[in-house]
Amino acid sequence: MKEWYDAIQEAQSVERLEEIRISVFGKKGVLAAEFVKMKKAPNEEKAKIAKDLNMHKSNLMNEFTARKITLQTQELQEAMKAEAIDVSLFSTSSSSGALHPVMETMDRIVEYFSSMNFAVKTGQIVEDDFNNFEALNLPKYHPARDMQDTFYFKDEMLLRTHTSPVQIRTMMSTKPPIRMIAPGAVFRRDYDLTHTPMFHQVEGLLVDEEGKVSFANLKYILEDFLKYMFGDVEVRFRPSFFPFTEPSAEVDISCVFCSGKGCRVCSKTGWLEVLGCGIVDPNVFAAVKYENVSGYAFGLGVERFAMLIHQIGDLRSLFEGDIKLLEQFQ
Ligand code: PHE
Repeated sequence: MKEWYDAIQEAQSVERLEEIRISVFGKKGVLAAEFVKMKKAPNEEKAKIAKDLNMHKSNLMNEFTARKITLQTQELQEAMKAEAIDVSLFSTSSSSGALHPVMETMDRIVEYFSSMNFAVKTGQIVEDDFNNFEALNLPKYHPARDMQDTFYFKDEMLLRTHTSPVQIRTMMSTKPPIRMIAPGAVFRRDYDLTHTPMFHQVEGLLVDEEGKVSFANLKYILEDFLKYMFGDVEVRFRPSFFPFTEPSAEVDISCVFCSGKGCRVCSKTGWLEVLGCGIVDPNVFAAVKYENVSGYAFGLGVERFAMLIHQIGDLRSLFEGDIKLLEQFQ
């Protein structure tokens, strides 16, 4: 029997101990065999042998249990040591979110005009005819309304087609002077390579006493702004038409893809149109009951800016939520 006491003491793993348990206490184990042998012993010795065997059985069981607890504790401690996590280590890879390129571009635009003391106004997305059209010198049946195919609700309300109604709301509720921008979503019934039903604009408006605001002021700030956004580009103003400004201009920058040499993106012209602007039309001031004032206004599409800054080819990719595209902007 001594060898089994030694075996239990020497067992180095719970697994080994289990093998010993089967060899000692199992149906075909050492103890069972001894009890079988005992039956063949002379009667007068049987009682002593049985007593001996039972004593060993219970001692071995105690040894076994004690050893098992020791080994289990040891194994647990080793496992905990091996699997320990050092929470102070830096992680090797981490993925964090990032601003969508449109929002990042919008933030940059807001940053520029905030630094120039323009207040940020948000207005509202569901507008009425007066603020979106009428007060902006776009009376009913004016052909220019067709330029902005509109989503209408039943009760004469509509989804704003541009951020210009925020100018009207601001002038209706505040006295001049005014220096504001309005960033936000706008909606038009349009969907193709270069148009999506929802996109973002930033509107700008500056109003001061009559004679104080000139086209030169507008030209200066827009040139400075476009250089801030696009770096060292050339800027040109082309005469254009908007119902709410007179005179009006569209603003181009030299193509950021070919530096003005002429390529596919700029249709070989070397120029990219990025802004609409002008001197506020007197009819607009009349609609909001402003007198003896002058002002300028401008409007731009944020998606277009984002596409030109990040050289994104297809406008629609900005709205598909494709993780492969977005990951490039982390
Ligand atoms: N509201 C015009 C548009 O959506 C942009 C614009 C704003 C033009 C202000 C001139 C002045 O196209």
